Amino acid sequence: MCGIVGYIGSKEAYPIVLNGLRRLEYRGYDSAGIALFDGAQLHLCKTKGKVNALAEKFAAQGVPQAQIGIGHTRWATHGVPNDVNSHPHTSNSGALILVHNGIIENYAALKTVLQQRGYVFHSDTDTEVLVNLIEEVKKTNNVKLGKAVQLALKEVEGAYAIAVFDQSKPNEIVVAKLGSPLAIGVGTDEFFIASDATPFIEFTNQAIYLEDHEMAVLRLGREARVRDLKKDARLDSAIQELSLNVEQIEKGGYEHFMLKEIYEQPRAILDTFRGRLLPEEGIIKLSGLENHMSRFLNAERILIVACGTSWHAGLVAEYIFEEWARIPVEVEYASEFRYRNPIINKNDVVIAISQSGETADTLAAIKLAKSHGALVYGVCNVAGSSIARETDAGSYTHAGPEIGVASTKAFTTQITILTLIALKLAKEKGSISQSVYQQHLYELQQIPQLIEEALASDATIKKIASEMVMAQHALYLGRGYNFPVALEGALKLKEISYIHAEGYPAAEMKHGPIALIDAQMPVVVVAVNSNHYDKVVSNIEEIKARKGRIIAIVTAGDSVVKGLADHVIEVPKTTEASSPLVTTIPLQLLSYHIAVMLGRNVDQPRNLAKSVTVE
Ligand code: AGP
Repeated sequence: MCGIVGYIGSKEAYPIVLNGLRRLEYRGYDSAGIALFDGAQLHLCKTKGKVNALAEKFAAQGVPQAQIGIGHTRWATHGVPNDVNSHPHTSNSGALILVHNGIIENYAALKTVLQQRGYVFHSDTDTEVLVNLIEEVKKTNNVKLGKAVQLALKEVEGAYAIAVFDQSKPNEIVVAKLGSPLAIGVGTDEFFIASDATPFIEFTNQAIYLEDHEMAVLRLGREARVRDLKKDARLDSAIQELSLNVEQIEKGGYEHFMLKEIYEQPRAILDTFRGRLLPEEGIIKLSGLENHMSRFLNAERILIVACGTSWHAGLVAEYIFEEWARIPVEVEYASEFRYRNPIINKNDVVIAISQSGETADTLAAIKLAKSHGALVYGVCNVAGSSIARETDAGSYTHAGPEIGVASTKAFTTQITILTLIALKLAKEKGSISQSVYQQHLYELQQIPQLIEEALASDATIKKIASEMVMAQHALYLGRGYNFPVALEGALKLKEISYIHAEGYPAAEMKHGPIALIDAQMPVVVVAVNSNHYDKVVSNIEEIKARKGRIIAIVTAGDSVVKGLADHVIEVPKTTEASSPLVTTIPLQLLSYHIAVMLGRNVDQPRNLAKSVTVE
C-alpha cells in the first residue's frame, strides 16, 4: 500500500505535495519522491527513507517554483526500498512522469516486449514498466496523454491508482484507478490528487472519488473529465462534499487504527493473494519459495521462530504444514530459541515470522540459525526491514502498514502466506492429490468474503463485550487449529484492555485450570465445526456445570452449543484449516470493544511498542 499526491493550479506545488505525503505516511514509508515541473524543466528528487529524508534532500538540491507536481511515499512490493526504485518514475524519453499505488501483475511480460522495442529500465519496479508502456502507446498511436493512458491500461493486469503528466503539456494531470484508492480534490481552477482526502482537505472539501476502471483528465481551465474505461464513455462524476477532519480520514473514518485494520483484513488478504493464488491456472506462485524448493523438500523438519502474535501464526502453520505437507514442524519463541543452545542441522529450514521485521529476538534467532547452515525464510510485512534483509529468502505479507500496536491484519496475512507455502509444498511432495490441492485453492479464494461475513457480527459482539467489561480474568479455549486462535484471542484482550486472560487447549481444562471456573469467569470457547467438535461440546458442558459464563464462537446455524452457551457468535462455515482466518475476527472485535468501553488507549496500549527492537 503506498500513498500518492498531486497538484496542479496556481499555488506552489511543493509544500502541498510534501505535506500531503506526510499525511499519507501511514500507508507506507520505506521511500519517497516528488517531481515538479517549473515550466522549463523537471525537478525530480527521490530517496530511500521517510518523507522527512526527502524534504532534506530536496532542500539541499534547491526547490523550484512550480505549479504542477506529483509525489509518492512507498510501501515496496516490487524492488527493494532504495533511491532508484522510489517513485516518481520517468519514461525513457523523460517526457512522462508517473506515480503508482498498486501491483502490476503482468509487468514482467510487458517489460520484455518494451525491452524488445528498445526501452531501457533502471529500476526493478513494475511502475517503471507502466510509464514506458504509456509512452510507447502514446508514440505508436500518436495520441494525447489521456488516450494513451486509456489504451495502455487495457494491457495491464493488476491494481493501480496512478497520476501522470507530460512535460510537453504541463497544464494537465491524468489519473486512473483500479483496486487502489484515488481521490480528486476540486478547487477553483486547481486540482488535487491523493490516495485519500487528507492531503487536500484544508484546501477544498469538494472531492471526486474515482471508482474502479475510471480515469480522469484534470486540465486547468475546465472541469475534471472522468471516463469509464470499460464502457469507453464520459461520466458526469458526482462531486462529494467532505465533512471529515484530517485525523478521521487517516483512520478511514474509524475511531482507531486497530478497528480500521480489523476491517481491512479482507482487502489485506486479497492483496496478499494477488499474483500468487491463481486457482483458475491451478497454481500458487511464490518466487522466494520456488528458488529454494529443494531445500524445503529435503528438509527433515521446519523450525518456526517468532514472538507474540507472529508466534501464534506459527502455531497455526504447524498444524497446516504437518497435515498437508507431512513435514515435521517445531515452533519456538525466538527469545528462548536464541539462548537455549538449540540443535540446528544444516538441512533444517527455519521460517522467521515478523510483522515489523525488526524484532530483536527474532533477528537474533535468524542469525543463530544461519550460523549453523540452516536456510532461513522470512514472512515479513515491511519490505527492506532488517529481518527481510537478513533472511535468505522470503514472502512479504501485503497487509500494508499496521499502525495499531495490537496486531490484527498482520496475523491473518501471515497465516495466509504460510498456508500458501504449505499448500505449494504439499503439491510438490505429492502428499495431497491434485483434486484436493485444487479444492484448497478455490476455498482460499473465498476467505476474504468469509471474513466480511464474520465482520458483520460486530454489533452482536459489541453487546457481548459490555457483559465482559467488568471481568478481572478470562479464559480462552480452542482445540486443534483453533488452539492458537485461543492464545491469540487472550493476548488481544490482555494487551489492549489490561484484563488478565489465558488461552488453553480446551482439553487441558481438566488438568488444573478448571479450578478457576466460577460465575465470575467468562470463558470464550472456539467451538466451530471440526473433527473434535463433540469433544469441545463436552468441555463446554464441564464449564457450564461449574457455572462458568460461556461465550462461544460457532459455525453459523449451530444449535447444540447455542443451547449451552450464554452467548454465541456465529462465523461462516470454512474448512478446519482455514477456520483460524475467520474465528480470530470476533476475538479481535471482542477485545477492541472491551478496551474502548474501559477507555483504554487502544492504538497505543500502556507499556507496549509496535516493534520490540530491544531484548
Ligand atoms: C501483537 O498484538 C503484539 N503487538 C506483539 O506480540 C507482536 O506480535 C510481537 O511483538 C512480534 O512483533 P513482530 O511480528 O513485528 O515481530
